[in-house]
Amino acid sequence: MRRILLTGVNGQVGQELQRTLLPLGEVIGIDRKTMDLASSTSIRQVIGEVKPNLIVNAAAYTAVDKAETETELANSINAVAPTMMAEEAERTGATLIHISTDYVFDGRKNTPYTEQDATNPICVYGQSKLAGEEGIRLHSDRHIILRTAWVYGTHGKSNFVKTMLRLFAERDEVRVVADQVGTPTWASDIAQAITTLLSQLSQEPLSSVPLTGTYHFTNSGIASWYDFAVAILEEAKQLGYPLKVQRIVPITTPEYPTPAQRPVYSVLSGKKISAVLGTHPSHWRQGLRHMLVEFSSYTL
Ligand SMILES: NC(=O)c1ccc[n+]([C@@H]2O[C@H](COP(=O)([O-])OP(=O)(O)OC[C@H]3O[C@@H](n4cnc5c(N)ncnc54)[C@H](OP(=O)(O)O)[C@@H]3O)[C@@H](O)[C@H]2O)c1
Repeated sequence: MRRILLTGVNGQVGQELQRTLLPLGEVIGIDRKTMDLASSTSIRQVIGEVKPNLIVNAAAYTAVDKAETETELANSINAVAPTMMAEEAERTGATLIHISTDYVFDGRKNTPYTEQDATNPICVYGQSKLAGEEGIRLHSDRHIILRTAWVYGTHGKSNFVKTMLRLFAERDEVRVVADQVGTPTWASDIAQAITTLLSQLSQEPLSSVPLTGTYHFTNSGIASWYDFAVAILEEAKQLGYPLKVQRIVPITTPEYPTPAQRPVYSVLSGKKISAVLGTHPSHWRQGLRHMLVEFSSYTL
């Protein structure tokens, strides 16, 4: 039976992967206590003990603004650790699946970013994630890097949807940035896409499609953070979430200054992965509805 080592098991995507990966083998889900990505000794030791066939790295330093001051920590978790996982995967014959981000791009394009587009991160988090990608490509022949964006889910600590629900319950007015666009993506759909991709990989070499490489996956459609907030409110009303809010006000990025600069346009093209999966991802609004229904069963 295939042994799958899953990191970041308590994160938004990690919790979903723990469920979706089950049909593919024995899932050994580990958290920070079992393997600290900031410690190279810990990484080598755990991979040496578990001897996985597949390593799925869903752990990351994801505090985009804090990364501007915790540069060293962000680099050690997002760049050094994945590089080391790639070295260990190569040494032991394992395949590495790693999740990356739309923030490797600078956002100056106005059409969806493909896997061939030049990267140029504009914040420390994006730079650290790009360095992780580069380390993996350098050290492992058998890997998948899946870039995604604007992730939210029921599980994990916090995300934009949960923040909006809290603010909608507390305030009359909520101001949201309207000049950054991307694609909100449900963690559950990311986990499912990774799992389907992996089940295809297990059919190699029968498959003629080379599966190793970099892929973009998000839900479909485009939204600004403001559009996303408006949709959350519409769905939340229908589902009976507690709401005090009267107005959502669109604002510009300079009106909401943050330590980290973010790409103004970070839509990813899903053409390459759709060809492999044989399906198109569902629209972001559908993922949002599913998440809010699921979340309501925990919170309402
Ligand atoms: N969130 C987004 O909007 C977004 C967008 C694009 C791409 N991504 C990428 O998608 C992937 C999954 O993101 P996510 O939203 O699921 O992240 P998340 O909810 O923040 O989860 C990250 C996980 O990494 C773990 N972790 C952090 N530092 C660690 C360390 N030193 N050792 C071991 N584990 C550590 C965390 O553990 P604790 O629970 O102990 O903190 C947490 O379980 C990441 O690669 C991220 O870069 C995310």
